[in-house]
Amino acid sequence: MVASCKQDDDPAGARALWDKINAGEGFRSWRRAPAYPERTPSFTAHADAVEIFVSPEMSAALRGSPPKITEWPQGSIVVKEGYRGDTRKLVAVMEKRADGWFWAEYDGEGETLFSGRPKICVDCHDNRATYSDWTYAIEFPR
Ligand code: HEC
Repeated sequence: MVASCKQDDDPAGARALWDKINAGEGFRSWRRAPAYPERTPSFTAHADAVEIFVSPEMSAALRGSPPKITEWPQGSIVVKEGYRGDTRKLVAVMEKRADGWFWAEYDGEGETLFSGRPKICVDCHDNRATYSDWTYAIEFPR
C-alpha cells in the first residue's frame, strides 16, 4: 500500500490508545473474544490468522445476564492482532467512546497506519452496525 491510501486522522489519539492497551500487563492479559479462544485463521487482508482480546468493560457485558444489550458499553476496547506465520503484522483496535467507535490500526511494531474514523474500516464494518454494534467477531450475549 502507498502512504496516500492511509487515513491517519488522529495520530495523537492513536498513540494514547496504544499506550492504554499496552499499560500494565497489556491487552494480551484480557479475556479473548468467545469465538476466538486461540489464534484463528482469518480470510481478511494482511494476515493469515488473528487473536482477538476484549477489555474488562466488554468482558463484563459478555458475562452479563439479560437484560439484553444493543450496544457495547462506553470504554469497551477490542484488539485484534493479525499474524503471518509467527510474525505479528498488524494490530487493529476499536474503542467505544461517547461519540461512537474510535478506530486505529498499527503495524506489528505499533506504528500507526490508520486512526480516527477511517472510511475503509467504517465501510466494511458497517454491515454489522445494527446487528452487533459494528463488531464482526463478537456477538451480543444471547
Ligand atoms: C474488508 C472488510 C474489513 C475492513 C476493511 C476492516 N475490517 Fe476489521 N474486521 C473484519 C472482519 C471480517 C473481522 C472479523 C475477524 C477476522 O476474521 O479478521 C474484523 C475484526 C476487527 C476487529 C475485532 C473486533 C470485531 O469487530 O470483530 C477490530 C478491532 C477491527 N476489525 C478493526 C478494524 C480497523 C481499525 C479497520 C480499518 C483500519 C478495519 N477493521 C477494517 C473486516 C474488515
